[in-house]
Amino acid sequence: MAGNNRNAWNVRSSNVSKRAHNPIRQIVDKLKVDPQAQKSFISLSVGDPTVFGNFNVDQSANDAIAKQLYTFKHNGYPPAHGTVQARDAVARKFGIPDKAPLTANDVILTNGCSGALEICFNVLCNPGQNILLPCPGFSLYRSLADIKQVEGRYYRLMPEKNWQVDLEHLESLIDDNTAAILVNNPSNPCGSVYPREHLEAILAVAAKHHVPIIADEIYCDLVFEGNTFHPMASLTQDVPILSVGGLAKKWLVPGWRVGWILIQDRHDVLNKEVREGLLNLSQVILGPNSASQGALDDILHHTPQSFYDDTIKQLEHNTSLSLSAVSNIDGLNPVTPQGAMYMMVGIDIEKFKDIASDVEFSQKLVAEENVLCLPGQCFDYPNYIRIVITPPADCLAEAYERMAQFCARHRK
Ligand SMILES: Cc1ncc(COP(=O)(O)O)c(C=O)c1O
Repeated sequence: MAGNNRNAWNVRSSNVSKRAHNPIRQIVDKLKVDPQAQKSFISLSVGDPTVFGNFNVDQSANDAIAKQLYTFKHNGYPPAHGTVQARDAVARKFGIPDKAPLTANDVILTNGCSGALEICFNVLCNPGQNILLPCPGFSLYRSLADIKQVEGRYYRLMPEKNWQVDLEHLESLIDDNTAAILVNNPSNPCGSVYPREHLEAILAVAAKHHVPIIADEIYCDLVFEGNTFHPMASLTQDVPILSVGGLAKKWLVPGWRVGWILIQDRHDVLNKEVREGLLNLSQVILGPNSASQGALDDILHHTPQSFYDDTIKQLEHNTSLSLSAVSNIDGLNPVTPQGAMYMMVGIDIEKFKDIASDVEFSQKLVAEENVLCLPGQCFDYPNYIRIVITPPADCLAEAYERMAQFCARHRK
């Protein structure tokens, strides 16, 4: 046995923990909310639709969980990747007959969509490889890549084209070490919803270079009138896709932590090795709790259509209110959202006399008006702010009124 020189305490944090970071947290920590502020605090910053109480889980989903609790059959450990009944419920909900069929064996249940993303990154990427990520994009993608020492390569989204992908730029980033392309549609933070032809064009790039896709479709179906959500797997027979989703957004229960990975692979490209890898990774820590798995069939298949319709109606109302209020503020340029729960707003920095960046805009806005929204730098996209459009309409109207006064005070 090797000797040791352990004669004093010297406990260090690991290299992994040093690489672990959440860009949003680091920036939000700089935005100080004043507890003594005269004006009420309005948060337009958190992508959690439940915080204000105006977006609520459907009663039928609560009943479905309660019913499962009283069977006394869900108090033990479920299988790590989910019960066959719950996986089958997901497969029946998201499989598309003929085009993209799924069985329970193609589904892995996870701890929210974040857990699904972590497993997908882990199964496809080795340290030293690269993964193509949208810019602007959800900050977890960067965190997962950094922790794993995978290089995040950021492909441009074009605000002037409803945040469509700059396809030439995307293609130019691919090399032998590219492990996957991540596509987020509908998008956080952009609120964009891609038309079928654009998704097909992205798939053509992936097919040409034989790169698999991770499709983050957590905002599936949260699309506004005139737009349609197309699951990426419904548009290709060639490109293997790991599609991730969950209950958090469409069913308005982010705290329930139910997510999934759909293995969409018509020609067995992901073969035994990747499937086994997914299974192995999912078995390190259990997926969603057993009661919500028991209720999944009811939630996915028996939630009334009126619940989904009401959610969209409210989001559409808040979006049009937000657009008309913010586009009237000189110095701010909102990009029209087509779905999800977000609106990106460009800041004409040169119009302001004492605001030099999006972070400073957010800092001063919260300090002076007690309105908090995230600066674009949280999403690697300076000179923008992201507004979450889920607060009740009167809160939004009040927030925009204060924002207008704030901008008037700071304009040149
Ligand atoms: C684009 C995107 N993907 C994934 C997630 C994570 O979802 P979950 O809460 O189910 O982990 C979010 C949450 O905001 C998101 O915006």
